[in-house]
Amino acid sequence: MESYSTTKWWDADTVAVVSGSNKGIGFEAARILAEQGLTVVVTSRNEDLGKEALAKIQAAAPGAKVLFHQLDIADPFSIANFAQWMKGSVGSVTILINNAGFAYKGNTFGPEEAKTTLGVNYYGTRQLTEALLPLMKPPARIVNVSSRAGLRSIVRSPELLKRLTGAATTPQLDELAEEFVSSIRAGNHMAKGWPDTMYGVSKLMLSLYTLQLAGQLKDKGVVVNAMCPGWCRTDMSSKRGTKSAAEGADTAVWLALRPPAEASTGGFWGERSAIGW
Ligand SMILES: NC(=O)c1ccc[n+]([C@@H]2O[C@H](COP(=O)([O-])OP(=O)(O)OC[C@H]3O[C@@H](n4cnc5c(N)ncnc54)[C@H](OP(=O)(O)O)[C@@H]3O)[C@@H](O)[C@H]2O)c1
Repeated sequence: MESYSTTKWWDADTVAVVSGSNKGIGFEAARILAEQGLTVVVTSRNEDLGKEALAKIQAAAPGAKVLFHQLDIADPFSIANFAQWMKGSVGSVTILINNAGFAYKGNTFGPEEAKTTLGVNYYGTRQLTEALLPLMKPPARIVNVSSRAGLRSIVRSPELLKRLTGAATTPQLDELAEEFVSSIRAGNHMAKGWPDTMYGVSKLMLSLYTLQLAGQLKDKGVVVNAMCPGWCRTDMSSKRGTKSAAEGADTAVWLALRPPAEASTGGFWGERSAIGW
């Protein structure tokens, strides 16, 4: 079994939630955390697929406490329902891996598609995080599964980049996300300096949110980081890629399990190393 931490600071009552854990990188992260002996909450927007994943993880980690609940992060009602269940049935969360993500295939591009992409990767991740924050107990960790496709270098306009990195609050970030969508609708997103990638912008927004949140929670015992899993053979990549889904999950799990004394906040990571934003 892979080594994830020099100190085993968790036990069977330490709760980890993984969004989108019915398949791909999220499934592997949930499986590994269960094998490490944590209580793991598997979530999926589709109940049947989620329950299938639950059974597979229970078989891979006999004796571990593995639970399932439906969760669609694009649906505020589903998020509220999930948070209420977590509060009533589980009680607390120590680790949140925001893994659920979405990308259109091929050349699909448009304002509604941009809204959908941002709706899952940025707004949905943020809403789930905000819903679970009251349940997070130190030493807590939030790991946002972002992507190198959302590095700041995708923004070619220095003025726009300055506005993006200067956004100090989530309403300011939301305003910029809405600006991206309306510029696509107006047919001038490139002229306004936006990159031609809905997925990239959604992950850039997620990374910017990660930094804001890390700053807000710095003194509250909640460590917040973003990471890129690398190019992994999952449904999102149409099973192409240089890494397996388990290899892609490695850095997310490593960040989640770092010993409290070593766990830093506000970083962007890949292959267990800090990489630039
Ligand atoms: N694969 C790569 O090369 C790569 C590279 C960089 C970053 N990433 C990121 O890694 C994460 C995992 O992706 P993956 O490669 O494992 O892809 P995947 O196999 O397609 O898995 C994506 C997961 O997210 C779930 N999901 C999508 N929309 C959701 C929603 N509204 N609510 C809840 N769950 C939702 C999916 O559920 P359904 O089964 O219901 O669709 C699925 O469980 C994503 O955030 C992705 O952006 C992947």
